[in-house]
Amino acid sequence: MKKIAPSVLSADFSRLGEEIKAVEKAGADLIHLDIMDGHFVPNITVGPLLVDAARKVTQLPLDAHLMIENPEKYIPEFAKAGANSISIHVEACKRPGQLKKNLRLIRQCGAAPSLALNPATPLSRILPFLEDVAMILVMTVNPGFGGQAFMPSCIKKVEKLRKIIDQKRLSIDIEVDGGIKPDNIQLLSQAGADIFVAGSAIFKSSNYKETIQKMKELTTLQKNFSMA
Ligand code: DX5
Ligand code: ZN
Repeated sequence: MKKIAPSVLSADFSRLGEEIKAVEKAGADLIHLDIMDGHFVPNITVGPLLVDAARKVTQLPLDAHLMIENPEKYIPEFAKAGANSISIHVEACKRPGQLKKNLRLIRQCGAAPSLALNPATPLSRILPFLEDVAMILVMTVNPGFGGQAFMPSCIKKVEKLRKIIDQKRLSIDIEVDGGIKPDNIQLLSQAGADIFVAGSAIFKSSNYKETIQKMKELTTLQKNFSMA
């Protein structure tokens, strides 16, 4: 079953608790939290305090996407605050040894380890770590801001990655993040993505339930059907 993960980056932060409850009620499968440090990406957002606050208002798994340098400094805090999965960026770790260590640290802290990669980063950079992750987060925009346009070139990347994961008989979810909307979710699902992060498509829509249900339905459609 494919999953929808609303990114609260596009939610109304003055009513964040209500917004999270609203998407939970509307059928969201997990809550995606974008953590930005102003170094790895130009934008600054929130820290473990927000994960802790979100933990208090929802039963859904919390999916923390760390767009930060030196993630090892903060992984334990995010896990302690209630993050169920933690994504770190392959571009944020210069040494492969450190990256492996960080992924292990996430697991030791009780969260599911995930590796994220930017649109310009080739798949070859993450392949050495497939045995160490539960999820790969394929960025479909350059990280830093919500509301950007989806980069269609990323569909091929998802397809390739799905093949590699299946050939190796690994159990790894592919998450896609950035510009995901009803008009591109079907292609991404057919390419092999499992979890779909959507910020503006959900929080800027007038009916969260309708949008989430529509996106879910589109993930279930088969290829021939879409071509008809
Ligand atoms: C971008 C973030 C995304 C973003 C998605 O750096 O990682 O999670 O909030 O927002 P939309 O769906 O509006 O592109
Ligand atoms: Zn994200």
